Amino acid sequence: MMPKDAERAYLANLGAQGVNHSLNKPFSDPECGIHLAAIGFIMRLLPPPPARILDLGCGGGWTSIFYARLGYQVTGQDIAPDMIAVARDNARINDVGSRTDFLCGDFEHIELGAQYDAAIFFDSLHHAEDEALAIHAAWRALKPGGILITHEPGEGHSQSAESIAAMARFGVNERDMPPHLIMARGRDAGFTGFRVLPMPSLLYSTFYQPRDYSGRWFSKRRWKMLARAARMIFKPDVREGAVVVMTK
Ligand SMILES: C[S@@+](CC[C@H](N)C(=O)[O-])C[C@H]1O[C@@H](n2cnc3c(N)ncnc32)[C@H](O)[C@@H]1O
Repeated sequence: MMPKDAERAYLANLGAQGVNHSLNKPFSDPECGIHLAAIGFIMRLLPPPPARILDLGCGGGWTSIFYARLGYQVTGQDIAPDMIAVARDNARINDVGSRTDFLCGDFEHIELGAQYDAAIFFDSLHHAEDEALAIHAAWRALKPGGILITHEPGEGHSQSAESIAAMARFGVNERDMPPHLIMARGRDAGFTGFRVLPMPSLLYSTFYQPRDYSGRWFSKRRWKMLARAARMIFKPDVREGAVVVMTK
């Protein structure tokens, strides 16, 4: 099966449990805290509501619903018809039907006109076959001055045990999507301003430990945290997963 057909078939392959997970995300997910942190950071980067947002590869729509609940007018878009059906149900259940619309289609080929203030790929661009086409399509959908935000895994993602298992079982793409690649494609598409910000999951795992390690000032752990924090501030790693913001 071709990867795009596999993306379309993914939810059906997961069955009722998958639908339930999608409908209740992020609360149904073991990484709920990280997802909530991530959406919070992304909200901080968006222009104030009511702006128009395009959520590319929205899956069951949880991110679209969070943006809509904050007052944005949101278009969620996904290649899988059953994901879009879940997203519509989800929006209705959360009472944001009037601030959301959902489109089924391929984000590498969407033509929506330059009408959005922000476009977001949240954990979806690394499923693309051609990320250059997807980033160019997002550029076309943005108003001049609009921003594209990506929240994607970096180098090594395609080799992780979880990705290898997902590719073997479902046939979907699990590609590396590091900031250097996203920015190179962005530059080709016509984006001008670029920012690379630490992945919320990295901040979460670096600083937010359930146990208190603060007793010992010069512990190995504390030095590691310091080194990581200094790198995040002064020399963001353009190979590892990150949030990238590009301006049209
Ligand atoms: C890992 S899921 C993330 C979904 C959602 N953003 C979330 O956080 O729950 C990746 C999503 O990208 C969608 N996708 C993959 N390739 C796509 C394409 N070419 N066009 C649109 N959506 C695509 C999949 O159907 C899937 O819903």
